[in-house]
Amino acid sequence: MDLMETADYRCWLNYGRVEDEALCRHYREWCSRIVTPIPAAGATLALSELVTGIQQLTAVQPDIAVYPSGQQGILFGLLESAPFSAGLVTPEEKAELNEEGFLLKTVSQPGPYLLLTARTEQGLLYGVFGLLRLLQSRRRLDRLQMVETPKNPIRMLNHWDNLDGSVERGYAGNSFFYRNNELTANLERVRDYARLLASIGINRIVVNNVNVHPEETKLIDCRLGMVEKLAEIFRPYGIRLMLSINYASPMEIGGLPTADPLDPEVRQWWRQRVEVIYKRIPDFGGFLVKADSEHRPGPFTYGRNHAEGANMLAEALAPYGGVVIWRCFVYNCQQDWRDRKTDRARAAYDHFQPLDGAFASNVILQIKNGPMDFQVREPVSPLFGAMPATNQMLELQITQEYTGQQIDLCYLAPQWKEVLDFDTYARGEGSFVKRVVNGSLFQRPYGGMAGVANVGDDPNWTGHPLAQANLYAFGRLSWDPDLSVEEITEEWVKATFGPDPEVGATISRMLLSSWRIYENYTAPLGIGWMVNPGFHYGPNVDGYEYSRWGTYHRATCHGIGVDRTMASGTGYTGQYFPENARRYEDVATCPDELILFFHHLPYTHRLKNGKTIIQHIYDTHFAGVEQVKELIQSWGRLKGKVDERRFRQVEERLTKQLVAAEEWRDVINTYFYRKTGIPDQHRRKIYP
Ligand code: GCU
Repeated sequence: MDLMETADYRCWLNYGRVEDEALCRHYREWCSRIVTPIPAAGATLALSELVTGIQQLTAVQPDIAVYPSGQQGILFGLLESAPFSAGLVTPEEKAELNEEGFLLKTVSQPGPYLLLTARTEQGLLYGVFGLLRLLQSRRRLDRLQMVETPKNPIRMLNHWDNLDGSVERGYAGNSFFYRNNELTANLERVRDYARLLASIGINRIVVNNVNVHPEETKLIDCRLGMVEKLAEIFRPYGIRLMLSINYASPMEIGGLPTADPLDPEVRQWWRQRVEVIYKRIPDFGGFLVKADSEHRPGPFTYGRNHAEGANMLAEALAPYGGVVIWRCFVYNCQQDWRDRKTDRARAAYDHFQPLDGAFASNVILQIKNGPMDFQVREPVSPLFGAMPATNQMLELQITQEYTGQQIDLCYLAPQWKEVLDFDTYARGEGSFVKRVVNGSLFQRPYGGMAGVANVGDDPNWTGHPLAQANLYAFGRLSWDPDLSVEEITEEWVKATFGPDPEVGATISRMLLSSWRIYENYTAPLGIGWMVNPGFHYGPNVDGYEYSRWGTYHRATCHGIGVDRTMASGTGYTGQYFPENARRYEDVATCPDELILFFHHLPYTHRLKNGKTIIQHIYDTHFAGVEQVKELIQSWGRLKGKVDERRFRQVEERLTKQLVAAEEWRDVINTYFYRKTGIPDQHRRKIYP
């Protein structure tokens, strides 16, 4: 079977023929004629994408004309090069349109036209995908009026791909960029990927792992040709390439005795490297840097701080418009579990906040959503909003390292939405994370969102077909964090599975409940971890309890949780602005779902939901397994309504998820029953 022909490969760009005849006629009326100064179909990517989409959705090949004849149709072209649109675009609309935005509206004079215009090719492409999405959603076209501009300047995917073809924390096969230290033979697939990403508004991509090994270190040197080739593929889709770099490059490939950022020779070396890169890739985006983190080299070795380390690279990139994205995932990974003073959660803030104002204007700090590491539930990092004079970005993990590894269904959009809508109070009420990271709260020049990619060379890209929804939701939220999760989900389901209302309602329900279900049967009440070390799948309550990684739950026979209060704990709560600090500090106001992240409490402590902690643990773990059974039943009802391939792929994963959920339930329940000796009120089966 041709891979390209499968619905799972096409993801949300499934342009199935519109079956509702009346609606299909409506679409044909509007879309069968395209008036554009661009001479022929295929001349620009945006136009050919538009033609293909319409053709597939309506089964009519649209005519292309250069001059309007007054007949109903689409007016399509760049703002400047479209004299026909003169007078149709108001000054307000013009002012609203930025370089990436598009205008789509229905006009009646001088004819019934659907006007689709933008300032750039990239904007036009976004407009085409926007219009086709309306058709996929079966919306009518006779009253459109939309100016859409992305709310985040940087909308980026981070690939943790290695040149040998492996993907760190990848759960969908191997890399489709690299194999055996070369590009893969199938660059058509890379093009298909670029198209998928453009359709959800992604405009940057980092093409190698943040842990930069010896071969990848050479990507800025003798392996630059590979990067150049990839950049050529991504460029027409408006996606700028970036590289993760090894901070010790001047030594490892440059032959210098040091990588000290203040050393003139080191500075010169980086300047030369950057110059070479830009000669070959003029639109290169810049560097992503994991430094002084989990044994990666960085400025600390030379007694320099992060700002000195980042600014050196920023200076080299600045003349070309490049940026340095510097990760804040910096903590002591050699901790001693006996030490109760060091708190990993504090680390990012403690390292970076004092450096506010010290970073160059083209440095952006990339901060993970929570203070630990992509757990199913964490509070929002207190670093957001705490550095008004510094560019900040949000890093999310689309790949499901700690959230079921694309075996378990776990749709993360609801979690991300909570993060984006979290009020930091940095400038009083309304200082949401989404406003910090898009730069608007502090009027910063740069900002945005980064997502660690969840794709691989699996024919369906993400292993679990429904995990495609996570990639889609990341893109759409990075374009517009104000979209509701429900809207995004509905859009995705229709674009991916078609408009059948039963299919839509069932899949949406499954997705929207899945994060809570996963939380129910895994680590309780915000404490996190409890996974198998290294691998991070499956339960192991004490797996990290006596390790060096700083991730402890501190369970005794009396109580559990980490005291992070100012009054008696690590003082982490004090890193938040007062409104949040107070809320988390006090057991009475701290939200249930995070209570063990902030407080060490007896098992008999009563939560706001009326249950004791121990009973809550039992209840959620029994419920989680039942909910997975319900997911299986819901999916079963779709047999015959979704294509057989995807049906089987999902069914198979759900079966494995049930096994995992039962294992979690029994391990967690038994662990706490043994610790406490407190029986389940409902006398369900707990193994003694
Ligand atoms: C996690 C993950 C690592 C990754 C690291 C990072 O700890 O397990 O594989 O390298 O995050 O974000 O740098």
